[in-house]
Amino acid sequence: MNHPDALYPVPDDFAADARIKREDYARLYAASVSDPEAFWADVAKRLDWMKTPTQVKDVSYDLEDFRIRWYADGELNASVNCLDRHLESRGDKTALIFEQDDPSKPAEHVSYRELHARVCRLANALRALGAKKGDRITLYLPMIPEAVVAMLACARIGAIHSVVFGGFAPNSIADRVIDCGSKIIITADEGLRGSKKIPLKANVDAALKLPGTTSVETVLVVRHTHGAVDMQMPRDRWYDAVVADQPDTCEPERMNAEDPLFILYTSGSTGKPKGVLHTTGGYLTYASYTHEAVFDLREDDIYWCTADVGWVTGHSYIVYGPLANGATALVFEGVPNYPSVSRFWEVIDRHKVTLFYTAPTAIRALMRDGDAPVKRTSRASLRLLGTVGEPINPEAWRWYHEVVGDSRCPIVDTWWQTETGGILITPLPGATDLKPGSASTPFFGVRPALVDANGTQLEGEAEGNLVLLDSWPGQMRTVYGDHARFIDTYFKTYPGTYFTGDGCRRDADGYYWITGRVDDVINVSGHRIGTAEVESALVSHPKVAEAAVVGFPHDVKGQGIYAYVTLIAGEASSDELRKELVAHVRKEIGPIATPDHLQWAPGLPKTRSGKIMRRILRKIAENAPDQLGDTSTLADPSVVESLVKERRMP
Ligand code: WT7
Repeated sequence: MNHPDALYPVPDDFAADARIKREDYARLYAASVSDPEAFWADVAKRLDWMKTPTQVKDVSYDLEDFRIRWYADGELNASVNCLDRHLESRGDKTALIFEQDDPSKPAEHVSYRELHARVCRLANALRALGAKKGDRITLYLPMIPEAVVAMLACARIGAIHSVVFGGFAPNSIADRVIDCGSKIIITADEGLRGSKKIPLKANVDAALKLPGTTSVETVLVVRHTHGAVDMQMPRDRWYDAVVADQPDTCEPERMNAEDPLFILYTSGSTGKPKGVLHTTGGYLTYASYTHEAVFDLREDDIYWCTADVGWVTGHSYIVYGPLANGATALVFEGVPNYPSVSRFWEVIDRHKVTLFYTAPTAIRALMRDGDAPVKRTSRASLRLLGTVGEPINPEAWRWYHEVVGDSRCPIVDTWWQTETGGILITPLPGATDLKPGSASTPFFGVRPALVDANGTQLEGEAEGNLVLLDSWPGQMRTVYGDHARFIDTYFKTYPGTYFTGDGCRRDADGYYWITGRVDDVINVSGHRIGTAEVESALVSHPKVAEAAVVGFPHDVKGQGIYAYVTLIAGEASSDELRKELVAHVRKEIGPIATPDHLQWAPGLPKTRSGKIMRRILRKIAENAPDQLGDTSTLADPSVVESLVKERRMP
């Protein structure tokens, strides 16, 4: 048995050749925090600016004088940085490799020149449909090249894209469309995942029947599976028809660095998902620089991030980071276990993937099937592995390292958030000795700190709440349409700092170990689900009086969803009703919010002032009834006893 803090030293080839070596890290990190202006001015030179910024950092977390601005007088266009500037040197280089759901279908290689042309045609078509700078466009697409094309086409004309993950249900689409007032939705007939069809267009149709969605004038439909869909004219238009006659060049919009690039909705501890807003200059600088440094990117790398573009990982590390860097990125439509659990490794061999970035939940799921499905593939092309989305347990880390990476490849365990735009705490493969389960040390310019419940900063070895003392260019700028919520959520808890919502331990070597969310957010397979959202879906069912939802440890998903439900008086509980309620949540939010367990609760543990004591519900869900802690403030202690007795065994 390895010591849990065992070090995996930097491999010799990385120590010798990496872009950032051990001695560089200490020097660059010190420079980045002592003179962030100079450091980030230099980094921004990696982009093509239409107007070079003379201002770099303009940030104050002081609530009286709050602002976050980077490169504020610079001008640029993100699509130009991801496409046009590569045309001369990399026009024929493959920008995207599209690996379809069905492995018997040929993979598609899209060169930078071809991608540029496709983006320009769509950008022209969007303009012809009336879209202009600042308009919001919702994308609800499968993992196909058109998803990338659509994001970059929006960026080209200065429209703000809002990508909605294809696993969300019509209600969730509608909420997001209404919140940002989208004029256009780009979708596809159907998506494909593990040979299963996802009725994307039908979901959009259902969403647009819901009240309040009247901002949408046009729905563009990509023909993907060629499945039958209802086309409602003149609202619905075939994508191929609208782009067909468009020229393959398109004048890019000049964007200020602080003009919005995209909105991406994410769950918080209260209320509806927040529209996280990222702007152009700082975000792109940060996504591109971190992608190059963390993955030690080389010109001939074949880079594969298995995320969906519906999440921030897809935005920063499939689209904007890699393409700004002129890399070759693989876009995968399928799932890890179709047609077999060797699929990931087969795709790696098929395309000679060198850099592979995935989620702990996928690793844990595949680990269950043993080594053989991995070992029957070569994976010799791999040189670096990465993980993101949730803490990785040391067992899964070691399996990933030894079995997938044949003990050759360093693993970058990258901690970050939708809000942060890019990776903040991570090993650098040529500079950082690895500890399984630790995201290790801060990236350049990032100043993490741990605070206790009173906000007192903890020094040295400590465990507390993770805050960031200063800004970085990729930081979100606001919650779309609700700046007060932005300030309240992130900057009021521990004044003068950005509060991440994560708990964290720092060890004697200064390595950070993320322990998970400390707020009412559940991390299910690396996806954030707000307990409040699931609760409100449950109570929207006519038979439900009250619901409380908590996370519990889950072997594969990291955390699962545990729901306690009180029925309205006179309604009888039954297994049928349990199934109906689970189906109801799937229908209201989407399959990713499916409760794993639903326990009938004749009553919920509340304080005398009526506040639900979630701490107790978490302990019951974890099956740790001996750790309930202080229950003296309970209004009715017998409620807890009966919940413990009736606990639903996973
Ligand atoms: C939350 C952010 C970052 C893109 C994917 C998720 C957790 C993320 C790690 C990691 C431990 C991690 C945190 C964070 N998380 N990466 N390497 N180790 N925890 O983005 O949906 O905004 O979720 O994911 O709890 O706060 P997100």
